[in-house]
Amino acid sequence: MKIMVCGGAGYIGSACTEYLLDNGHEVVVFDSLVTGHEAAIDPRAGFIKGDLGNRDLLMQSVKDGQFEAIMHFAAFSLVGESMQDPGKYFRNNLCNAINMADAAVAGGVRTIVFSSTAATFGEPDEIPIRETTTQCPINPYGESKLCFEKVLYWYNKVHGLQYAALRYFNAAGATENFGEDHNPETHLIPIILQVAQGKREKIMIYGDDYDTPDGTCVRDYIHILDLAQAHMLALNAPESGHYNLGTGNGLSVKEIIEAARKVTGHEIPAEIAPRRAGDPPRLIACSDLIKKKLGWQPQFEDAETIIESVWKWIQKNPDGYDD
Ligand code: UFG
Repeated sequence: MKIMVCGGAGYIGSACTEYLLDNGHEVVVFDSLVTGHEAAIDPRAGFIKGDLGNRDLLMQSVKDGQFEAIMHFAAFSLVGESMQDPGKYFRNNLCNAINMADAAVAGGVRTIVFSSTAATFGEPDEIPIRETTTQCPINPYGESKLCFEKVLYWYNKVHGLQYAALRYFNAAGATENFGEDHNPETHLIPIILQVAQGKREKIMIYGDDYDTPDGTCVRDYIHILDLAQAHMLALNAPESGHYNLGTGNGLSVKEIIEAARKVTGHEIPAEIAPRRAGDPPRLIACSDLIKKKLGWQPQFEDAETIIESVWKWIQKNPDGYDD
């Protein structure tokens, strides 16, 4: 298929672009490079430097490209920042994403694969979290993603635009060529590995008094190549749908630190710090639906393998993309 990947210079978009190209698809990346890196764009892909806020450029690019599908990774994703500046999140993650949906309709695109998030569930009323679990976001980031899920639902009803909304749990890991390089970095695994690299003195554990087995927050870490596999399967889904994407294994902050110690051989000093605002105690996915409907099967099920892939990428790219 010929696919436009919006946000293909970002962490998950770059890995997904590589995976699509490896599997014989043709890809054009559309990215503003505001948070992405030019060096993260697979050299086999086409590239249009543009912002989804530039409606004319987007409309023209989609029309000219004759794409069969568009994938949307081009969002802001920092929960804390969204609590400081909700407008930034609704403008980009909702308004600009609507530009993309309009361009898809006008350009005759068949399907959109959208990066949604576990943050649409807020503090869930059941674990594991199913597609039917009540969605009640507790921050503007999660709300902006939920709003666009609803936009897609109505564009499907009204315009017949097919879609898959993939609700990622905690994206992690790296491929041989592409990894995570955020500025500032807020995610647990890259920060832990910065300690092992000697770039930080210690890892701060945000709270050890949660109602979880060891008192630290539990998350469902999913490798970006498993996310990429889900995106490719979604291209051929017979109907539109929403899918939760995790491994179903809940791992605590302390368990992740322990796994990183094993992988790196570094002692990784840790210190307990106050809770971080807005952190739900446990987020674990039930991904039976996507396994059953689309045949998705995660390949990376344990923390050490996921962390190993990141550690390998960091050895090759100690300062990230260097741009
Ligand atoms: N944590 C620490 N110390 C740190 C960084 C994180 O203890 O230095 C803890 C957090 O408090 C949390 C866990 O590690 O309990 C994971 O934190 P991350 O920041 O890595 O990830 P989040 O679970 O906060 O959020 C991620 C994405 C969101 C997405 C969410 C869905 O960043 O965009 O997963 O589960 F919505």
